[in-house]
Amino acid sequence: MDASHRNRYLEAIGVDVWVRRPGGPLGALEIPERAQALAPQPAPAVPTLEVAEATEPVSDLAEPWQALRTEILGCTRCGLHKTRTQGVVGVGPQRTDWMVIGEAPGAEEDRRGEPFVGRAGHLLDAMLRAIGLDRRTNVYIANVLKSRPPNNRDPKPEEVAACLPYLMRQIALLQPRLMLAVGRIAAQNLLSTDMSLSRLRGKVHHFGELNTPLIVTYHPAYLLRTPADKRKAWEDLKFARSVFRELTDRVGIDGNLP
Ligand code: URA
Repeated sequence: MDASHRNRYLEAIGVDVWVRRPGGPLGALEIPERAQALAPQPAPAVPTLEVAEATEPVSDLAEPWQALRTEILGCTRCGLHKTRTQGVVGVGPQRTDWMVIGEAPGAEEDRRGEPFVGRAGHLLDAMLRAIGLDRRTNVYIANVLKSRPPNNRDPKPEEVAACLPYLMRQIALLQPRLMLAVGRIAAQNLLSTDMSLSRLRGKVHHFGELNTPLIVTYHPAYLLRTPADKRKAWEDLKFARSVFRELTDRVGIDGNLP
């Protein structure tokens, strides 16, 4: 990837891009250009990731996806159904290589019925675009909880227990090659651990019977509050991309990442 492309991705995420002072001597101090994380801007033209061929025709997946969707929308397994506007299933293709898992719908997601469509979602989109992923074409985005907890409080264990089977069915249908858990709640629940996010980052975990590689990074809402950590999130994304590339090289499929 050339430097100007890379800088555009970083700017979209809001990572400081360091540029050489014009006309400055070699070794002169570099100055940061403050990137505009959430300013409306056209998406950088990123080559999209080529999706591996599905092992089953997508038409065979339509029915189980529809059944799952109907169940989630009508779910009353925990008390959250009383306060939510609607269940939020997920967004993306019915089978795909990448899956992103967050915590729970917020106010905007509850209103619109789609995960990560608020401020944090805009940042997540930019983060994904930076590694060639797009929510409608080659990544599936879901949450641990399908219903919004009031006032965005942390999910209760019994709510997670009630909702996790839906996520498991989503994972079984998607058969992702790589999962990205964003934030502590998603990471801890998927990995059944109480380890801190900082200890979970930077390594490849494995999920479920298929041993799907799982990588942990910061939640975009946290990054909006703590922009200094965006650079670490960028490291996580590059790490995820390299793990995916290694995987696709090993199995000989064309995972054509930028
Ligand atoms: N935060 C999440 O974890 N998920 C969403 O869908 C929105 C915000």
